[in-house]
Amino acid sequence: MYDTLLSPIQIGEITLKNRLAFAPTTLGYSPTEQIEKYRAVAQAGTALITIGDISVLPSFHQQGHSLTNEAEAGKLKIFTDAIHQAGGKVAAQLFCPDYDAVEVAKWFADVKTGRLSATEMRQKMNDGIGQYVTNMSLEKITAIQNTFVSAALLAQKAGFDLLQLHGDHLLGSFSSSLFNQRTDCYGGSPQNNLRFALEVITKIKDVCPLAIEYKLAIRQENPHYGNAGILLEDVPLLVPLLEEAGIDSFHVTIANHGNLEDTIPTVSHAYFQREGCFLYLADAVKAHTSKPVCGVGKLSSPDFINNQLSNGRIDMAAMSRQLIADDQWLAKVVNRKHSEINRCVCCNKRCVDALRNHRKFGCIHEGRQF
Ligand SMILES: Cc1cc2nc3c(=O)[nH]c(=O)nc-3n(C[C@H](O)[C@H](O)[C@H](O)COP(=O)(O)O)c2cc1C
Repeated sequence: MYDTLLSPIQIGEITLKNRLAFAPTTLGYSPTEQIEKYRAVAQAGTALITIGDISVLPSFHQQGHSLTNEAEAGKLKIFTDAIHQAGGKVAAQLFCPDYDAVEVAKWFADVKTGRLSATEMRQKMNDGIGQYVTNMSLEKITAIQNTFVSAALLAQKAGFDLLQLHGDHLLGSFSSSLFNQRTDCYGGSPQNNLRFALEVITKIKDVCPLAIEYKLAIRQENPHYGNAGILLEDVPLLVPLLEEAGIDSFHVTIANHGNLEDTIPTVSHAYFQREGCFLYLADAVKAHTSKPVCGVGKLSSPDFINNQLSNGRIDMAAMSRQLIADDQWLAKVVNRKHSEINRCVCCNKRCVDALRNHRKFGCIHEGRQF
């Protein structure tokens, strides 16, 4: 009954055993708990796990992952080994912050001492993005692009099977005319705004054999959602350029730098209410590429997901909160134990809100027994 969901798919040279992915998710657990969670997700049969937000620059977050040296690659190798032993494949989501990390590290220290609230810090970070992107020197652009390349090579050493380039954060802010006011070849038109990302892709492809998935962050107008990323109307122009640069698959979602609840919508979101709420964005991408397209956003029902896959709307399905709520989702689907699935209700209380407010991370379902 779930033949399509359970069928293999090729991304670049990699074969995934089925169509289910754990969407990039920063888990607010300790490293040991994170590894246990990934192991459980992989043991349940999930084909691909993407480790979220691995910075290509040194991270000021104690719990954040980065890939800037061999020691960090060694730490992540423990994660990739655990996932491989459990039968899964693993992607590294590489991202670069779109703020001055030295400045933000000072604000972060102020948050810890209570001099600044987490909301105020986020506001200060958002306020500075436009200037940061617009005033970045050509030397710094090249230097950051080169850090993506060295991070990609370190990801390969750390045992990752593929890369996911995060098309939000710095790549997304360069891509967006709302932030990028440059007048050189890195700004002024949708193609120029995407140049930073396109060059990163070709530079990685020149030296690193790993397949690259692009997390394409799309913003839409009327109503307006997301500030970074590419405009929905520019998809026909820009998706072929990403493919030409060497992208092997797309992971499609709404862009960021608005309200976090727009990218991770709660049950009561005014616009993104239904299961598969971002799949209309995947539809637009699918019309302009032959590469696999992965959908994400409020996916949780086995029948709904299998239908979207079997009617060709998407080639892969990614879930974040549903797999936080129940890492055994796929095993329960395969074993026809649907009624035992802890269904994510998109409350965000113990995952997103806990992460934002530095509270204990988890899920409201934790401890539920059958
Ligand atoms: C706790 C949490 C952490 C997340 N961390 C990341 C991240 O590191 N990188 C990323 O691109 N998206 C991240 N996301 C967004 C998810 O990948 C996904 O796009 C979003 O949650 C919508 O999917 P869902 O409805 O299946 O949760 C995170 C989501 C959650 C709930």
